[in-house]
Amino acid sequence: MSKSVKDYKRVTTNSLFEMKASKEKITMLTAYDYSMATVVDAAHVDVILVGDSASNVMSGHETTVPITLDQMIYHASGVVRASKRALVVVDLPFGSYQSDSQEALRSSIRIMKESGSHAVKMEGGKEIEKSITKILNAGIPVMGHLGLTPQSIYKFGTYSVRAKEEEEAKKLLSDAKKLEELGCFALVLEKIPSKLAKQVAQQLTIPVIGIGAGADVDGQVLVIHDLIGLTNEFNPRFLRRYMNLYEDMKKAIEKYVSDVKSVDFPNQNEQY
Ligand code: KIV
Repeated sequence: MSKSVKDYKRVTTNSLFEMKASKEKITMLTAYDYSMATVVDAAHVDVILVGDSASNVMSGHETTVPITLDQMIYHASGVVRASKRALVVVDLPFGSYQSDSQEALRSSIRIMKESGSHAVKMEGGKEIEKSITKILNAGIPVMGHLGLTPQSIYKFGTYSVRAKEEEEAKKLLSDAKKLEELGCFALVLEKIPSKLAKQVAQQLTIPVIGIGAGADVDGQVLVIHDLIGLTNEFNPRFLRRYMNLYEDMKKAIEKYVSDVKSVDFPNQNEQY
């Protein structure tokens, strides 16, 4: 374990506040299944996000819109079984919280009870105020998500940087303050100018975790498949790839195919 990683028995929402207060950066990564979450947790990532990006990277959909609540619960259950240290946060998928606050609460309760996760994440600001309040009043921690909110892709029409114009930046700042005031324990800011993200992180007491939002926030989040280079066609500027797993896996699998074809595998020692 690196020196800069605290040995939390279990990271909680309070640990994240402590990290912000002591200026220790928070690490968050996605995971959608038991095996991947086992590695992520063992590497001392503070928060595992069962993101609705599962819709893209696990199921090959073009957007996050199609993934269902049942599918999110399935993904989250495996991640919870794997995670010994990390706080596990699960995205409320599109359609599970937008219609009314009762449905939002019902969806959150299902996630918490059926997967054993520790918190939910929701996209949006003032417009989902009632749902956030209802969920928080039931004792379920909520993480907010502003900036590029992929569930609204058909409204924006593009995945480009959000809040570049003053009016949208003002709304984002006011939404961020609203989410803190309502009682969200943390906020994700996706793909916004770093200057604005810095302003939000400075003005909020809750931790602000960025993706494509620069370094002056309280932590960073990436999609695990992007970090390990399994998604090799997604190349946004904010992404740092730490390995090229797509190429390494392909080579390994090609070698397996060739070994089987040439009857090199299995050899004498690999049979009974
Ligand atoms: O679904 C997801 O992976 C996310 C992150 C990009 C923050 O919401």
